[in-house]
Amino acid sequence: MVAMQISPSILSADFANLQAQIEAVSNADWVHVDVMDNHFVPNLTIGVPVVESLAKISPLPLDCHLMIDNPDLWAPKYAEIGANSVTFHVEAAANPAMCIKDIKAAGARAGMALKPNTDIEDYIDLLPQLDMLLVMTVEPGFGGQAFMADMMPKVRRVRELVGDGPNAVWIQVDGGVSADTIEQCAQAGADVFVAGSAVFAVSEPAAMVDQLRSLAVTACAHP
Ligand code: DX5
Ligand code: ZN
Repeated sequence: MVAMQISPSILSADFANLQAQIEAVSNADWVHVDVMDNHFVPNLTIGVPVVESLAKISPLPLDCHLMIDNPDLWAPKYAEIGANSVTFHVEAAANPAMCIKDIKAAGARAGMALKPNTDIEDYIDLLPQLDMLLVMTVEPGFGGQAFMADMMPKVRRVRELVGDGPNAVWIQVDGGVSADTIEQCAQAGADVFVAGSAVFAVSEPAAMVDQLRSLAVTACAHP
């Protein structure tokens, strides 16, 4: 397993000042960009033009989480415009294997996300192709929701399936991750942590990023 990585979600940031907000968490490993289309989820955020602009100015690599219909068409486009990691929802994909291939061919790391009710057992054959598997710990669509601790067995199961060697598939958790909940995620086997409200709702976001990372590292050392 690689080091514990923190990916602050700008969904909870000030959308009128995204450059400054990203610079405020420049000690993070990634910046998590939630793309929502008001079809796959009942909320609407940003799309290709804004993400393309962010890719040009961000000091951090972009971790794009696509909560959209038709990722087969759109996911590779986000890779082409500069996203370093592109994660699509398997529930929305017509051909997930092809989607993974297309994201990689366009030059990004390929991630696949599972909603809380989606079972990993149905997608085990896709794991070897993936760079990252995202286990949602809330229903996708909104920031600030309560963490679903009952997703931890799914995280454990995925870690069991992918192993923990240096090239193992990364396991991301997203939703309700905070100083109160990150340790159980790390103990279950997650190594990439998305946090929106926990980071951007406090007065010192960078200090929170460091605190979250150190809680994850310590928890992982004592499973
Ligand atoms: C929810 C998004 C998350 C969201 C998390 O659908 O995918 O990335 O920003 O927000 P918090 O950390 O506040 O739950
Ligand atoms: Zn997200």
